[in-house]
Amino acid sequence: MKFIFLLMGAALLTALLLFSLGCDREVTFEPSDDQASLNSCFTCHGEDGLLLAAKGEWENSVHASGSNVDYTNRGGGDDCTRCHDHQGFLDYLATGTVNPPYDQVSSIHCFTCHSPHDRGNLSLRTEAAYTLENDYVFNHGGANLCVTCHHSRLSADDIEDSMEVYVYWGPHHGPQGDLLAGTNGYEFNDYEYETSPHAYAVEDGCVGCHMGNVQAHDGYEVGGHSFNMEFVNEHTGDTSNLVSICADSACHPSTKSYDVDGKQTEIAGLMEELEVLLYDAGIVDSLGRPNGLPYPPVGPQLIEDKNITGALLNFLLVKEDRSMGVHNYKYMEGLLESSIEYMESLVPPPGSSSYPITLLRSRAAH
Ligand code: HEC
Ligand code: HEC
Ligand code: HEC
Ligand code: HEC
Ligand code: HEC
Repeated sequence: MKFIFLLMGAALLTALLLFSLGCDREVTFEPSDDQASLNSCFTCHGEDGLLLAAKGEWENSVHASGSNVDYTNRGGGDDCTRCHDHQGFLDYLATGTVNPPYDQVSSIHCFTCHSPHDRGNLSLRTEAAYTLENDYVFNHGGANLCVTCHHSRLSADDIEDSMEVYVYWGPHHGPQGDLLAGTNGYEFNDYEYETSPHAYAVEDGCVGCHMGNVQAHDGYEVGGHSFNMEFVNEHTGDTSNLVSICADSACHPSTKSYDVDGKQTEIAGLMEELEVLLYDAGIVDSLGRPNGLPYPPVGPQLIEDKNITGALLNFLLVKEDRSMGVHNYKYMEGLLESSIEYMESLVPPPGSSSYPITLLRSRAAH
């Protein structure tokens, strides 16, 4: 036992030394038993090891930026850290809860999604199916990892008459899991919602598109561990993207952009229509936020009609999803069209200047 520890210690020291010296020695590794992959550091850490390309890409990812990590680690009752930093995510996976603030927080990095030094391989930390807020079970292999963070924080089933909304009310940034699966929007009675097959169109949902083929690295800016579908180089203005994934499929053979057959343009148009209707009714401010102005926000507002709150939820879902239809064109189109129909039915008849019902009852801020 002692001997093994000594061996591992020696390996660790050598590796640390090589890291710090900038090693250019070729190390060949021949696996002989199961433990070997873990013991031989150089399967992964060699010159031609697996890690360098992943690291180069990850450095171009928003995950690596950690730009909101200090902000979301403020502590208090917030559960922000379970999605926003490494420490919170691991705590959440292990205990089902978080205990911020953490002394040190880091951005989402290799060890957030993998656990190579415990397992000796690069398998994902979790691939467990993830149950969304409306109890829909999202289960698409590697994408389950993503959706453990990328999901709506509200259940549409909880929307009822006389609900309070405020400036931060909504699904939060990143409800991609719900929309990809075509669930958890506010569904109006008597409207038939359809869903696009994008959750199944590629392997492992999110991973199949945003990482492309992880073995075939498309430079460091899109695909792989950059998770980017598009990257605009600040200096040259050049754009790189992964439109080839769509164009190489049997589905969209000759498309040159993500705006396949103008579908993104259509979704953007519907969003604009709905935003104007919500604005006229006093539900969102000029930035599309529920009752955002003035800042600091006025206190919560009561919306008496659940269909209006539902229309607001649908608007925010599509806005925060940010794929403008790519994740699920048909479901998003349905959510927007049905919301527009309902909001149009409330528009006051010509000649009358106000809405026929009391939509809002303002509450004093304090
Ligand atoms: C299955 C692949 C794999 C194996 C095997 C492996 N590592 Fe790592 N190691 C990683 C990954 C992934 C990282 C994070 C990326 C990086 O920093 O390059 C990492 C990071 C490190 C770091 C940087 C410190 C840190 O925590 O970020 C050290 C030091 C290290 N490994 C040493 C070792 C040693 C010593 C061994 C052998 C006992 C070993 N590794 C075996 C995958 C592996
Ligand atoms: C369930 C997971 C989850 C929780 C909990 C969560 N977030 Fe997020 N947050 C995300 C995801 C995913 C994104 C990125 C979404 C995207 O880019 O589409 C994000 C993005 C953000 C952004 C960046 C927005 C931008 O436009 O750049 C801020 C700021 C933020 N969150 C703050 C918070 C705060 C504050 C809390 C706690 C009150 C919180 N988040 C809780 C998942 C979460
Ligand atoms: C946000 C989650 C996430 C982060 C962060 C992340 N990975 Fe991965 N990684 C994945 C997923 C998903 C795959 C796809 C393969 C799979 O499903 O097992 C993968 C695959 C890999 C592979 C295998 C690709 C191959 O050639 O077979 C390597 C190597 C790897 N990651 C290294 C890293 C390193 C090094 C880092 C940090 C620089 C890192 N990963 C950070 C999610 C992540
Ligand atoms: C630990 C939670 C977590 C996991 C797991 C995770 N993400 Fe994220 N992701 C985030 C957060 C948080 C942000 C936003 C970071 C910020 O703004 O501070 C983000 C940002 C992103 C962005 C960038 C959005 C932009 O602004 O351009 C993409 C794309 C993305 N994630 C895709 C994925 C994919 C694909 C996976 C699975 C392989 C994944 N994420 C796994 C939490 C997570
Ligand atoms: C069928 C391919 C596909 C799948 C599956 C997919 N995405 Fe996307 N996603 C896209 C495309 C394409 C865009 C960019 C649209 C654009 O820029 O016009 C995008 C946009 C995004 C964005 C906005 C930021 C950005 O990079 O433009 C985030 C965040 C995101 N996706 C996360 C996810 C997550 C998380 C999943 C899994 C739940 C997922 N996506 C599944 C293709 C896909």
